[in-house]
Amino acid sequence: MGKVFNMVVDGSGVGVVTFDVAGEKMNTWTEEAFNGFDHVMRELETSKGISGVIFISGKPENFLAGANLKMISQIDSAEEVRRFLDRFHGSFARLEALGFPAVAAIHGHCLGGGLEFVLACTARIAKEGKSTLIGLPECNVGLFPGAGGTQRLPRLIGYPALELILKGTMLPAAKAYEMGIIDRLIPADGDLLASAKSLLEEVIAGTANLKRPLQDFTQIDAVAEMAKAGILKATKGREIPGPMLALKSMHEGLKVSLAEGIEIEKKNFVEVVLTKEAKGSINTFFIKGMTDKPQAMMTKGFVPKPLKKVAVLGFGTMGRGIVIDTLRNTQFPVLVKDVPEALEPGKAFVRKILDGMAEKKRLKEPVDAIMSRLTVTTDYIDAFREADIVIEAVFEEIGVKKQVYGELGKVVREDCIIASNTSSIPITSMAPFVAKPERFGGIHFFSPVWLMQLVEVIRGEQTAQETIDNLLNFAGLIRKRPIVCRDNAGFVVNAMLFPNFVNALKYIEEGNSIEKVDRAMTRFGMPVGPIRLIDEVGIDVLYKIFVGMGIKQETVKSVVEAGRLGLKKSGKGFFLKDGSVDPEVLPLIVKRPPHEVSEEEIQMGIFTAMVQMGKDILDRKIVDDVRMIDVGIIWGLGFPADKGGPMKWADLIGLSRKLYGKNFY
Ligand code: NAI
Repeated sequence: MGKVFNMVVDGSGVGVVTFDVAGEKMNTWTEEAFNGFDHVMRELETSKGISGVIFISGKPENFLAGANLKMISQIDSAEEVRRFLDRFHGSFARLEALGFPAVAAIHGHCLGGGLEFVLACTARIAKEGKSTLIGLPECNVGLFPGAGGTQRLPRLIGYPALELILKGTMLPAAKAYEMGIIDRLIPADGDLLASAKSLLEEVIAGTANLKRPLQDFTQIDAVAEMAKAGILKATKGREIPGPMLALKSMHEGLKVSLAEGIEIEKKNFVEVVLTKEAKGSINTFFIKGMTDKPQAMMTKGFVPKPLKKVAVLGFGTMGRGIVIDTLRNTQFPVLVKDVPEALEPGKAFVRKILDGMAEKKRLKEPVDAIMSRLTVTTDYIDAFREADIVIEAVFEEIGVKKQVYGELGKVVREDCIIASNTSSIPITSMAPFVAKPERFGGIHFFSPVWLMQLVEVIRGEQTAQETIDNLLNFAGLIRKRPIVCRDNAGFVVNAMLFPNFVNALKYIEEGNSIEKVDRAMTRFGMPVGPIRLIDEVGIDVLYKIFVGMGIKQETVKSVVEAGRLGLKKSGKGFFLKDGSVDPEVLPLIVKRPPHEVSEEEIQMGIFTAMVQMGKDILDRKIVDDVRMIDVGIIWGLGFPADKGGPMKWADLIGLSRKLYGKNFY
């Protein structure tokens, strides 16, 4: 097996070290990579006549993507974190002590521990290209740069480093050059190694003129304060350990020497790695990766049915959204059927949303070109025979669905995939309406479709695996993030949302203020409080669901009966336009025996009820994999990414063990 780092010394005494972690798409700092680095350092330290060294990646599209997150997520003692850090700092210290210059020649991703490595080199050159991205994205995975990044980057480029690190920004090569992170930029078709050699020669000759301004950090207190306000604004006041400790490392470390700063960074890094938020964020990173490419979720070796035309039934709220995402992400002609009066408003709406996207430069083609692929109709015209997939989004009434499937069956081919966007009718109960029900399944979108990544792909009892795979393929083509589940009241996402509502209402009935209940959950990290969400969804919508499920919820009933369906819907709900609670709604809240509790108890109460629902979903095999629940709740409900999903968070805070004696993961 080849070594990770291979050195060839050329005639002029320049060592060219090519590194390539075998069998991996990306280079990362694995144990093997560290060992290889040690090995090449020994060669460099002991070889005679070397005047300088160049580090270049052997991968076509990647320099070094940083530390190995799997490795980090498995660390659970301070001692282990210190050992891990010593590998980095030991390696970089040897690099800096070589006595001759080191030049990093960058193409492809140079991120995290990859950038920290090149920051420890004497100079950096990068080749432009789509895959060349340079940055320290650790804060996005619940960590922060712990291999010197919080100290070396600000010392190189000054205060702008704070924002780059706190936001985890990844820069294209030209921007990194403009900011002074790299010293030379060559075009995508340039010869990186030859240019790196010229740069090294200049460095050796002392003619490179590298910009290494002495940075002035006397204003760091004020800058750090502003940066902190920026973070807290983005997290709605939540102090997430990654960025907070990154900031602390920079704030304190930039007032002292580099060596002392690195010690401060190390101490904070040991702390951050062991936080639940770091482990939660890394889980989110992995489950995101798992669902980023829906085609990879299909059965191994499955070849999806080629699609040429898509049809949508119903041009209402959901049909419009499905049409928008199909049109803008694919080249398929889209056929939509609805009643005559729905067609023009539907088209106008689709155009309005696409125009908005065009204005923000989010579309690759002109709106007219996109709209030219849309055909609207009131009848089952012959064109339906060409449809390879039909998504049904008509009224949520089983009688209407039955009629629609009956009519549709007469015009579509037998191999056409049919999927319902129903939010509450079991797929299995609609299967008898469809000839060849094995080609029928569910694809449940969220509103507004073009903003919500998630879809639930639903397997009815008769749905063939092939149909599920084809729906996953379709989800991928229209750029959705799917989870796969079976029939269930509320499938996964709405089922998990339910306990939020039930418990939030119970707390207000027990005399806790609406403000307190909502604040507890936004402080927990949810994007909106449960009572506000009820108001936005429509109080009557929730009421209907409660009635359908045989649940007596007296507050919702009395609010709806008073004509308050929600602020947006009927102008009156729980809240006023200025965001405050409407005092008129207070007498409508049904009283239970008073029981005032703290915000923490509210958070725990609501969260525990969610986890219990998750356990039930697993026990009843609604999903086959616990990660499906966490993906659904992060991307369907906005559950905080740093908690890794409700089921992962239950593991991390010890709730799973307390309730069930074992972890979900
Ligand atoms: P909507 O009322 O906005 O639109 C339904 C459309 O279906 C109307 O334009 C109506 O004219 C049309 N329609 C009725 N009968 C038809 C027929 N025989 N042929 C063709 N079109 C017909 O309803 P919305 O909200 O778009 O819901 C549609 C489906 O999506 C329902 O099954 C609903 O449960 C589901 N859903 C709704 C969500 C939401 O947030 N609104 C979220 C996820 C799913």
